[in-house]
Amino acid sequence: MIQTAVLGYGTVGSGVVKVIETNHDSIEKKAGVDLGVKYVLDLRDFPGDPVQKKIVHDFDVILSDPEIRIVVETMGGLEPAYTFTKKALEAGKSVCTSNKELVARHGTELLQTAREHNASYMFEASCGGGIPIIRPLRTCLCADVIDEITGILNGTTNYILTKMIEEGREFSDVLREAQQKGYAERNPEADVEGHDACRKIAILSSLAYGKRVDFTDVYTEGITKITPADIQYAKAMGRTIKLLAFSKKEGEQVTAMVAPYLVDKEDPLASVNGVFNAIFVHGNMLGDAMFYGQGAGKEATASAVVADVIEEAQVLGRSVMSSWDPEKLVLTDVSGTEKQFFVRAKGEASEAEKVFGPVKLVQAGLEGEYGFVTERMSEGAFLKKAGEFGAMISMLRLRDKSKAE
Ligand code: HSE
Repeated sequence: MIQTAVLGYGTVGSGVVKVIETNHDSIEKKAGVDLGVKYVLDLRDFPGDPVQKKIVHDFDVILSDPEIRIVVETMGGLEPAYTFTKKALEAGKSVCTSNKELVARHGTELLQTAREHNASYMFEASCGGGIPIIRPLRTCLCADVIDEITGILNGTTNYILTKMIEEGREFSDVLREAQQKGYAERNPEADVEGHDACRKIAILSSLAYGKRVDFTDVYTEGITKITPADIQYAKAMGRTIKLLAFSKKEGEQVTAMVAPYLVDKEDPLASVNGVFNAIFVHGNMLGDAMFYGQGAGKEATASAVVADVIEEAQVLGRSVMSSWDPEKLVLTDVSGTEKQFFVRAKGEASEAEKVFGPVKLVQAGLEGEYGFVTERMSEGAFLKKAGEFGAMISMLRLRDKSKAE
């Protein structure tokens, strides 16, 4: 029997215990070993819950127990998750996690620590919840040179945007509802400001391009400025609005960005709605592939964590896992990337062409303003022109799938 310990009995941690217990027999068949949860570390006691007898409050109990070969870290946040993970790996215990914040911040170091101690640090659940994406990038697609990843990587913002588009409601109104339903955190900043998607695209890009992508280098915008007026224009253009996280490799140059985009209704990413996530991958041999499914949620995320536990149970004592070079991948400045821009503006429509050159006007029936789409130009050139223009209310980028920006 291989014994595990779960750190944190919150949404994902309790899901992990549930998956291991519910699917015990099938897991035993697939893993070839009996998998048990010996301890659950939490500050709380859970009186009356069957987990109560497994609860410990002291991490050293887990660390010093030689029976524990795999630790599941589902605490979230940086500390004490980082310290516990580091200590577990140094003790030769493998760690499986859903903690994208920790993987994005300290993943390179923790992978190294794992290797040095013949253990593994696995994080399938850190990106896309229950959607298999880390393992496909590591194994199924390893014959390919990946040159693009574009994803809807955050369920909360996709839910908010979907509701705003379907019901014509304000951002703050839908956010409040999402919080009441438990879809959005009480402090939603990491989601709505794009930080969560930013961490995930940094992890996926590190894996895909083989060098450490520092998430703090990724240009990031969230969805807090999107209004029902933007949505009216999007509809008039036959588009929808999605928070996209993407990275693209051209030669040795990689760009990465998180921002709301106007996405054509025919684009496969346009039909990814609600809390669902999707990750589009392009490889030089593969061409296109898209991974779609439950990007968050207790059981879906826990299923991905337990899949890592099963894989690890089969290779104990050997360090088999995702990896990338600790050398930092220097991202290309996004100001050089080209795309079309949609602009809402005040004043006379004739003013737009004077500054931006040929533009396509968009009629959405809003009083006192107009909208237009520019020709393709670099972010830098656009910003310069927008400064000269002075009448811009807001701007959104257009996704052109064929150019994958
Ligand atoms: N807050 C995240 C989301 C949870 O909304 O996608 C899953 O990582």
